[in-house]
Amino acid sequence: MISDHKKEEIRDSADIVEVVSDYVKLKRSGSGFTGLCPFHNEKTPSFHVTPNLGIYKCFGCGAGGDVFNFVMEMEGVGFTEALRTLAERFNVDLPQEQPTEPDETYQIKEGIYHALKSAGMFFYKSLVETDEGQKALNYLKNRGFTSETIKKYGLGYAPGSGQSFLNWALKQGLDEAYLHEAGLVKMSQDGQRTYDTYRERVMFPIFNPSGKVIAFGGRILKKSDKAPKYINSPQTKVYNKSESLYGIQVAKNEIRKEKEAILVEGYTDVLALHQAGLRNAIATSGTALTAEQMRVLHRYGDTLLFIYDSDNAGQAAMLRGINIALEEGLGVRVLKLPEGDDPDSFVKQFGKEGFLSFKKEHAKDFVSHMVDAAILSGEWDDPVTQKRAISRILTSISSIPDAVSRDTYVQMLSRLSKVGDRALYEELGIISGQKNRQEKRREMRQKNQEQAQSQRQSPPQQEEAPPYWENEPVHNPPQIQKKPTIIACEKEAIRLMLQHGRPMVEYIAGDVGAINEQFYESEEMRMMHLNIIERYEKKEPISIKAYMDRGHPFPQIVGDVIMERYSVSEHGNKKRITPILKDSEPYKVARGNLKALKLLFLDRKRSEFQNMYRNADDSQKKEISEKLKEIILWYNKLQHQSADELFELSEKEKQALLEKEQNNNDRF
Ligand code: UTP
Ligand code: MN
Repeated sequence: MISDHKKEEIRDSADIVEVVSDYVKLKRSGSGFTGLCPFHNEKTPSFHVTPNLGIYKCFGCGAGGDVFNFVMEMEGVGFTEALRTLAERFNVDLPQEQPTEPDETYQIKEGIYHALKSAGMFFYKSLVETDEGQKALNYLKNRGFTSETIKKYGLGYAPGSGQSFLNWALKQGLDEAYLHEAGLVKMSQDGQRTYDTYRERVMFPIFNPSGKVIAFGGRILKKSDKAPKYINSPQTKVYNKSESLYGIQVAKNEIRKEKEAILVEGYTDVLALHQAGLRNAIATSGTALTAEQMRVLHRYGDTLLFIYDSDNAGQAAMLRGINIALEEGLGVRVLKLPEGDDPDSFVKQFGKEGFLSFKKEHAKDFVSHMVDAAILSGEWDDPVTQKRAISRILTSISSIPDAVSRDTYVQMLSRLSKVGDRALYEELGIISGQKNRQEKRREMRQKNQEQAQSQRQSPPQQEEAPPYWENEPVHNPPQIQKKPTIIACEKEAIRLMLQHGRPMVEYIAGDVGAINEQFYESEEMRMMHLNIIERYEKKEPISIKAYMDRGHPFPQIVGDVIMERYSVSEHGNKKRITPILKDSEPYKVARGNLKALKLLFLDRKRSEFQNMYRNADDSQKKEISEKLKEIILWYNKLQHQSADELFELSEKEKQALLEKEQNNNDRF
């Protein structure tokens, strides 16, 4: 086990803003930061990081906690692993200990990560240290990649024998099952033997944003008709193709600075651009762009520059990619390189400055680009084909979630096409309507399929289900898993005790407030109350920090309780979060909450006894109704008195009053 002391040291050293920034583009807001929540899909930021408390909280989906929780959630790792990752990153020395028994998927993932990392090392060594690797090294050097780049991006070589890696890995004590899980080895078709997936190939490791190897792309050395040019890792437990981006482990920081990502096609394009100092370049692994990838990019930047390949297949694919990026709310620009050039060859000829000045002159917004493409292809010359091109451009514009941007682009298209904006808006409306209907049809089909499936599985239901068009929203809102809401005054009672310590505990749970755990409806708050009392009795410190320093689930609960004090108010469209962490009169606040807690408690009791009364037999009814009367009396008494009348002042307040009187007496 890692000691509490160490945990504290790691928490103190780990900068939560830096850690979160690996995944979320944060903007300063008051004493904290806001951004788009990485745990659910959203377009306006409701995710908050408060560095001086070391916590994050999303008001959209309820996710929250401390820096450990964040790493655990994002990386899908356990507590110990999160501790170790952070310790390593922020240079806190940890004693070598065997980790506590992790859960099964965690263990499998760790096994896969380990296999991939080892493989990366093996391939790298084969490239730079073996005779066989020399030809691959020559190839990379001839293409202009420096030793530094090769090392930094972990490029490698997979030997040709078919079992070199397997044998090496087994000798290292790696588990063959994990080699399979990682996609590094394969079973032969007859099921007789295992062999290396990559043979005689230049290896490009693919990393996740935090720099772990998650997959490989392997390029063939010499042209062949029989074998594919690249072999890529299969989808595994740690590699999800649709959200991975090649180069992201380096590009993320640059994208954050530049606000723009450059999307290129190949691994080698990414490397060439990075090597030239354009480190915001990324690529997919030869697959079509996905919405998930756009979401990942949106965490770091807000514009995507497509580098345009002149061949036709590339063009159609790019158009789909543009629409996906627009749907995510990214700004889209397009850069067309000179005929015959790709990013790799271009940057090798002209360098970073050459690329930047070319970009400055030739990069276009997507509408101008699409108009120019239509002019070049001749589509623009004929009214019929021009109409087709305009519809295509309007389809892209209709993907943009933001109304103002849509408007800007329609105006631009109107200027470029000399078609009046009224007509364009009309057409845009038709296209949006068609899209909506298509979407609905798709949903209906899916629904019908699901229904048919469930009917096949289960006998017909007694009650007829309502037709699907009832209660069916036009767009399915993103599914947000909300935690059951905790009544505000329950959270407040806990917060006050955490924030003001022992005297407040005495006030709330002692003679004046007389609150015990039964007054809480929420299980979580009940547990917290009991826990605070226990600490009180043991004379252990009671403070926000004391609880933040404890393990799961305390930091998360503390976050929940404290962040509630940030009221979210609507100012026009902008949400402002105002921290009111300092109560000027905490005991007055406490009195208000004591009253509310008790009223709610009595309210619950009342319905409980009313229910009991309904189900009781005559012999019990009298006793229950007595109790009910008592509750109602108590309730009414509470309701008709102000909180200040109900609860006497705290010792602190009395003391302050006394001092004030003293002062007044002194003066006169
Ligand atoms: P390219 O053929 O442009 O490859 O394919 P490249 O990376 O620029 O490599 P060089 O310059 O020829 O050495 C673009 C991308 O498409 C994917 C790879 O991700 C590649 O980087 N691809 C290509 C495959 O996945 N499989 C293939 O057979 C070919
Ligand atoms: Mn290339």
